[in-house]
Amino acid sequence: MPSNVIVGLQWGDEGKGKITDFLSKNSDYVVRYQGGNNSGHSIHIKNNYFILHLIPSGVIYPHVKCIIGPGMVIDPKSLIKELTNLKSMGININNVFISKRSHIVMPYHILLDKYKEEYLGKNFIGTTHKGIGPAYEDKISRIGIRILDLFYPDIFYEKLKNNVEFKNTIFKKIYKKPIISFKPIYKEYMNYAKILYHRFIDAVNEIHYAFHENKKILFEGAQAMLLDIDYGTYPFVTTSSSTTGGVCVGTGIPPIGLDNFFGVTKSYCTRVGNGPFPTEMVNHKLLHDIRSKGNEYGSTTKRPRRCGWLDLVALKYSCRINGINYLIITKIDVLSELTLIKICVKYNINGKNVDDFPPDIGNKKINCIWKKFKGWNQNISHIKEYEMLPINCKNYINFIEKYLKLKIILISIGSERNQNIIKYKRLFYKIFPSEKI
Ligand code: IMO
Ligand code: MG
Repeated sequence: MPSNVIVGLQWGDEGKGKITDFLSKNSDYVVRYQGGNNSGHSIHIKNNYFILHLIPSGVIYPHVKCIIGPGMVIDPKSLIKELTNLKSMGININNVFISKRSHIVMPYHILLDKYKEEYLGKNFIGTTHKGIGPAYEDKISRIGIRILDLFYPDIFYEKLKNNVEFKNTIFKKIYKKPIISFKPIYKEYMNYAKILYHRFIDAVNEIHYAFHENKKILFEGAQAMLLDIDYGTYPFVTTSSSTTGGVCVGTGIPPIGLDNFFGVTKSYCTRVGNGPFPTEMVNHKLLHDIRSKGNEYGSTTKRPRRCGWLDLVALKYSCRINGINYLIITKIDVLSELTLIKICVKYNINGKNVDDFPPDIGNKKINCIWKKFKGWNQNISHIKEYEMLPINCKNYINFIEKYLKLKIILISIGSERNQNIIKYKRLFYKIFPSEKI
C-alpha cells in the first residue's frame, strides 16, 4: 500500500491541514514527524472550523490513527487544550497517540524563546514564542527531556532539576531575568503525564507494524521547505527538518517505505516572521486585498502575514529537495478578480539572470523577473471540474506545471473540505481509490 507524504513548499501556511484532512479519508494512519505547536493547521467542514497545532490533521475522521511522531517536540499543556477543544466539538480523540521518544517543551523553553528574541534586537527571527527552538536545542545538546522520562519519576525529577538550575543561570547571568522554581514545574508535568499516560506509545514499532501490514500511512509535514533548518532561508527558519527527508528522521521509517511526495504551494506566497522574501508585495492596496481575501493572519500567533507573488525559482528548488512527484495548489480563488497576476520566473542578481535558488539569498539584492498573466474576473469557488475554470486561470496553472515539469493533481478553491478540483482524475483515484467526492 502506498505511503504518502505531504509537505509545504514555501514558508508555511500553504494549506497542508486542509489537504491532509481531505486525503485522510483513505488513510489508516496520519503521522506528524517534526515541529511542535508552532504549526497551525486549519480544517473547515461545513460550519465547523478546527485549528490543529500538534494533533495530525487526520483526526476528524474517527477511523484514522493519529500519531505525534518521535521527531516532534510536545508542549503537553497545549496538547491537552487541543484534545479538550476537539472533544467538545464532537471529534473522536481516542485515536491520538504520542511517541515516547518525542521531546517535551518545558516552561523554560518558552521563556528562553522570548528572551532570545528580545536579546537579538533588530536581528530577531520572529519566532512563534512557543519554545520550539530551545526545546530542539536541548535535544541536540543532549539535555532534553523525553516523554519516556515521565515513566520514571525519579529520573524525570533529576533531569528537570538539573535543567532548571542550568536555565536559571542563563536567565540570571545572560538575560538578567527572574529565576524560576523547579517544584511547581515537576508537579505540573507529572499531572500532565497522568492525563496523557494512555496515549504514550512506541511509535516506531507502531509505524513499522502498520507498514508491514500494508496499512495506508499519510505523513503530514509542518512548517515548510523554506523554513527547513538546513535548506531554508537560514537563520530565518524553524529548528527542524520540514522536508520529505525529515519523515525518515522523524518517524524511523526507512526511505524505501515512502512512495508519493505531494508538495503543497499557495498560488501566491506568504511568510510570517523575519527573513528574505524576494517576491514580497510592495503595492499596499494589493497587499491589503490579498491579505484580507486570503485571511492571511497567523493561525498560531494571529500576526498579519507578509504576502507576495508566486516565486517559481524558490518553488523549483523546493520540489527538487523534496523529490516532489505531485503538486497541489491552494487558494487560487484568492487571485480571482485581480486584473494582473505576476509570477517570478528568474532572479536578477548583480545584473545576471539566475533560475537556481542561491544559498546566500539573504545577503543578496534580488530583482525579480516577472511573467505577467491576465486575471479572471470570475468567482471560481463553486467550480467542480477543471474544464470549467476560466481560461486565464487555466493558463496560470498550466504555466506553473510546464515550468516545474510536474502535474498539479489537486487545485483547492476555498477553505471548505470539498472545495477542490482534481485535475488528473485517473491518476488521483489510483493513489486514493476511495477518495471520491
Ligand atoms: P505551519 O505548519 C508559518 C515561522 C515563524 C518564524 C520561524 C521560526 O502552520 O505551516 P519557530 O517558532 O518555529 O522557532 O519560528 O518559523 N513558523 C511558521 N510560519 N507556518 C508555520 O507552521 C510556522 N512555524 C514556524 O513565524 O518565522
Ligand atoms: Mg501556520
